[in-house]
Amino acid sequence: MYPNSILILFSNLRGGIGKTSLAFNLSFLANNALIVDTCPQGNLSYFFNKDYQLSPSLSVNDILRPYFLPGFGFATNTSQYIAETNKFFEGKNNYFIKSSNELYILPSQMANALVQARTIMGSAQEEMIDKMLYSLKSEIQKEKQIINADKCLIDTSPFFSGATHLAWHATDALIIPVRTDQQSINSLRLLLDILTNPNSEFRRTPTSDNHTPKIQMIVLTHCGWSTVAGARNIPNQQTKMFLKEIYNLIARQISLFTTSNPANHIVMLDDFLGSGRMSTAQSKPILCMNSGETMYINRVKTSVNESVYKIQNELKFIHNSIW
Ligand SMILES: Nc1ncnc2c1ncn2[C@@H]1O[C@H](COP(=O)(O)OP(=O)(O)OP(=O)(O)O)[C@@H](O)[C@H]1O
Ligand SMILES: [Mg+2]
Repeated sequence: MYPNSILILFSNLRGGIGKTSLAFNLSFLANNALIVDTCPQGNLSYFFNKDYQLSPSLSVNDILRPYFLPGFGFATNTSQYIAETNKFFEGKNNYFIKSSNELYILPSQMANALVQARTIMGSAQEEMIDKMLYSLKSEIQKEKQIINADKCLIDTSPFFSGATHLAWHATDALIIPVRTDQQSINSLRLLLDILTNPNSEFRRTPTSDNHTPKIQMIVLTHCGWSTVAGARNIPNQQTKMFLKEIYNLIARQISLFTTSNPANHIVMLDDFLGSGRMSTAQSKPILCMNSGETMYINRVKTSVNESVYKIQNELKFIHNSIW
């Protein structure tokens, strides 16, 4: 659906709803992709390289730092070939830029630098602010050229300040996982407010072209299905209720989306069950799993059942809709 150059991002201002799992599995389906982990927790970096913290490679923080702390040199060639550290990615021209826990302090460095920039008079102020807010975007564009990538996925933290803010300016389209629970719906409301409210942290400091990403897709994660006899492919009551609530939210704010039909923007992703736990334990994409596989995780026998094939199809559907 999207031309190659457009960046896609995973963002919802709530933790543990499936951003990183989705980013990991979609990066497996893609080829010629650059994946950027802007979350200081580094879960996605760990999926790609469990020793990422020890590796001498540069991090997202290293590429952003010079924009906010003058005096530091600019970094290039930061991305790492994923297949080198995760064998499931063999044969794919996919690279990642790792996270760093230094990203936890980026929000205050950014805030200070933006305050400084506002003291500059005239058009230099606008230039300075653009340079900072588009820092992640320009660095991603440079890196994509070096590795010959035509797509980019960015995983974000559950907080807006700092790298997530920069990721929103780096991307044209947001993919927002939302879990089937009320807190996730509330954080979706908060996200829509940040996109639209003129006093929000995002809108308060606009770029010169007033860039705002559109929302391409809301992925409802952890969906469950009715177990009533004869009810094939009918969502359970809880899932149905959240689907309706999200549909209404989208309909009310449809101008924030890439098309004018709310139905185009909701996709359901099943509860991963055992396959999700095994995927995390082995850094193995769900696409590489088969029904019947078993392993012990913390001494509990975990297995993959037939539902994995449905999840694989859902992931392929999302992949085909975003690129
Ligand atoms: N569709 C799903 N069904 C079941 N479990 C899932 C699903 N998606 C993710 N999980 C599980 O939920 C947990 C959190 O997932 P994940 O790390 O992807 O969330 P996150 O949104 O990236 O969290 P954070 O905001 O902390 O970075 C993990 O244990 C993961 O295996
Ligand atoms: Mg995450």
